[in-house]
Amino acid sequence: MTATVPVRTPTRAADRQELSTRLLGSAARTSYDPTVDVDWDAPVPDALYGLSPEWSSLYGTPLWEGLTEQQRVTLTIHEYCSISGVGIWFECLLMQLVLKDVYGDDPSQPHVQWALTEIADECRHSVMFARTAQTFGAPSYQPPSSILRLGKAFAARGSGPAAYAAILVAEEILDIFQRDLMRDERVQPLTRRTSQIHVVEEARHMRFARDEVARRAPRLTWLGRRQHRTVVASVAAIVADNLVQPQVYASVGLDPQEAKAVARSNEAYRAKLRDASSGLVAFLREVGLIGGPSELLWKRAGLL
Ligand SMILES: [Fe+2]
Ligand SMILES: [Fe+2]
Repeated sequence: MTATVPVRTPTRAADRQELSTRLLGSAARTSYDPTVDVDWDAPVPDALYGLSPEWSSLYGTPLWEGLTEQQRVTLTIHEYCSISGVGIWFECLLMQLVLKDVYGDDPSQPHVQWALTEIADECRHSVMFARTAQTFGAPSYQPPSSILRLGKAFAARGSGPAAYAAILVAEEILDIFQRDLMRDERVQPLTRRTSQIHVVEEARHMRFARDEVARRAPRLTWLGRRQHRTVVASVAAIVADNLVQPQVYASVGLDPQEAKAVARSNEAYRAKLRDASSGLVAFLREVGLIGGPSELLWKRAGLL
């Protein structure tokens, strides 16, 4: 099947070089160096959560009700470190995808310079998240080795609209999450500062990724579209399920596997993830990257 199926694209792609030039200008005006723009020596207050309690994967469950206030603080700190630790994993993958995408292009072109700027942002973010876990005294949470292997294969083979859509999945879910945290006075200053830095810089990444998806998705063949839909849905399911690693629950004496099962069926948490991905889902639907059998994967992941 080689015929291209026309897809309505209300999100029209902007001119790639013009957009890249604008993004480069914005990055020149507002970028951060977390090694000096975060106060790493500030004390970690005892009474503040690691993330907004409503964002805890156990919020509203009997397990949550059974925790003391201090345990809730500890759990939410570990959950933030897990989500940002999984963020490091994903950033390491997306840096490879972006670099591969512009490899061999003329570096005098703004889109190449933008791609390199985005990768530089992600390098700083990953160091920032690594130091956040260290400062909170949490381990370096990562997905299990089976998922690490899958990610490596995706970084090697992923390309085209699915690659940029996969990047968007992680960036947009984290964006909504971190916008909540940076405004929440019940949350640790370190969480709020790292969230704010990430939100500002990621807004540019999301703009670029949306544009790449909107430009490329309409060119897919029928078969290509089906394949890209499956890839994006699988990435979304894996990212959503892996944000909070089971070992975080051990930090408050809960059984990791038992608590993970409770989190997976926690409707309050699922609703948070669903809300956070609603803008992304609407966009991917508009460009034809959600639809057909792939819907089932999105539903099973609790994101639809
Ligand atoms: Fe990032
Ligand atoms: Fe990013």
